[in-house]
Amino acid sequence: MCGIVGYTGKELALTPVLEGLRKLEYRGYDSAGIALATTTGHKLWIQKRAGKLGNLEEILGSTIPESHSGIGHTRWATHGGPTDLNAHPHLDNDGKLAVIHNGIIENYLELRLVLEKAGHTFKSETDSESVAHLLSDARKQRKGDLAAAMRDVCRQLRGSFTLLAIHSDDPGRIVGARRNSPLVVGIGDGENFLASDVSAFIAHTKRALELGQDEVADVTGESIVITDLTGKILPHNEFEISWDASAAERGGFEHFMLKEIFEQPKAIADTLLGRIQGLDEEVTKGINLAGIEKVVIVACGTAFHAGLVGKYAIEKWANIAVDVELASEYRYRDPSVDSNTLLIAISQSGETMDTLMAMRYAKERGARVFAVCNTNGSTIPRESDAVLYTRAGPEVAVASTKAFETQLVAMYLIGLHLGRIRGTMSQELIAEIEHELSELPAKVEQILETVEPLRELTRRFNSATSMLFLGRNVGFPTALEGALKLKELAYMHAEGFAGGELKHGPIALIEVGTPVVAIMPAANSLLAEKMASNIQEVKARGAVVIAIADIDLPAADYLVRIPKTHEFLQPVLSVVPLQIIAYEMAIVRGNDVDQPRNLAKSVTVE
Ligand code: F6R
Repeated sequence: MCGIVGYTGKELALTPVLEGLRKLEYRGYDSAGIALATTTGHKLWIQKRAGKLGNLEEILGSTIPESHSGIGHTRWATHGGPTDLNAHPHLDNDGKLAVIHNGIIENYLELRLVLEKAGHTFKSETDSESVAHLLSDARKQRKGDLAAAMRDVCRQLRGSFTLLAIHSDDPGRIVGARRNSPLVVGIGDGENFLASDVSAFIAHTKRALELGQDEVADVTGESIVITDLTGKILPHNEFEISWDASAAERGGFEHFMLKEIFEQPKAIADTLLGRIQGLDEEVTKGINLAGIEKVVIVACGTAFHAGLVGKYAIEKWANIAVDVELASEYRYRDPSVDSNTLLIAISQSGETMDTLMAMRYAKERGARVFAVCNTNGSTIPRESDAVLYTRAGPEVAVASTKAFETQLVAMYLIGLHLGRIRGTMSQELIAEIEHELSELPAKVEQILETVEPLRELTRRFNSATSMLFLGRNVGFPTALEGALKLKELAYMHAEGFAGGELKHGPIALIEVGTPVVAIMPAANSLLAEKMASNIQEVKARGAVVIAIADIDLPAADYLVRIPKTHEFLQPVLSVVPLQIIAYEMAIVRGNDVDQPRNLAKSVTVE
């Protein structure tokens, strides 16, 4: 999704703006642009290009004017293709005011018609350009007060937005606003930053403040004024960023994704730290977990798969019904939800619009809302009654790996917590799960020692056009996750199935040579034998079986051994080889591992 950066202060603005855009590349984008307010000129200096940041840098040339404030944008196309003209910033007709935008302006068409009638000429097909024209008129009416103009304009907009605007007649000032999309201000010394998230400026400052819904920031190098849309001045909601700048770098790995796969043992250990014996009051203080009649989990993509695994554990341990819902579907079917519903929203970014909207829907109907999130201060935890932060650290690769692992851990911790307070787990079971959870980091570490042979094995299937994943019980969502990873990274057909469903249709897909990854249930599980039969069924039709199992399995053509654990915890282990298979297949096919085509890290549109 679009990335937004602004800098105003004592330094030349170009460097922090470009650096910030680099840090936001992980969000996914297809064009980039910057606008600088120069110290001499009467118009803004603006450059923008379709494609990667390198394309923009190529056209900057050596005659960059002196400027101490500027805004930069990476665009992920929604309205209008990824072209030079549609790239942000967008200018008003005087060439003096520039705007960058993340989100969607839902009423842009009607606004555009009115503006065109009033004599404005549009250059792009975007919804965002309307804001530049509206702001230009509003600023004139407000006698040059850009912040007042921004407040006027925000009241006219429908949809979601983070906006930054700059004007050449007031070069040291940047005005930002947000609704349903994120905006943080980095507080420096004689300089300030604005960005979609803190990674854009953590190299410069650890002090930040977040803007709430429908708030406007009026920022210069020396001052920050936050107001609501009526102009009322609001207190600063300042926080200290705990992430280390170097945590967001690749640290010697070929790709962020591989680095993040190797960070999984630490991410799991960090997420468990101090929580195995029970979630502390810090996590649960805002929510009453007594008397819940049902649990609903809403999430998207990989986070949804974590939720599906969570269903098995929470239902069994807390003896309560759990529904897992695709967030994008949930609110549109008028589901039954009330004050006895515990809604768990799982999101790495905390900004996924589908999840946010599903959560708001349930909250409005009285549900108690619990977030599982990796990003401090993002919208989903901010709007929840309670939050369990996964401590995966910054996840830069678009394909989620360590965040998924920590989401699984969060599900187990919630299941265990509910089981304890509802008195539905025996002391023996609690002790067993506590023990097994604490062993997970070392067991994942052990699997990571087999990465190289697994990469080699994956290369054997280079010419496959399709790969199928089979699992039962918690192995089924793991199979779905393995297939999703392969689709998004290797751009190949992949599907995950429940082993028992094979005979109801999917088995027709099996041809001689079709690779099938079988996620074996824990050896002591009742389903181990059933899955062994599924392997025989596909083998009899010519499939080549790669089994992920905690015992030897002669029936498999290839075996990836994983350590033993409690059956519900197994996805934490069995997903690791699946991540490696997808990673290697993407490399073999020459794909962009960290930023797969068409995908964005943070999906802030519905
Ligand atoms: C896949 C992936 C996505 C996200 C999904 C939800 O690798 O990363 O499927 O899991 O877009 O994102 P969050 O967790 O940020 O809400």
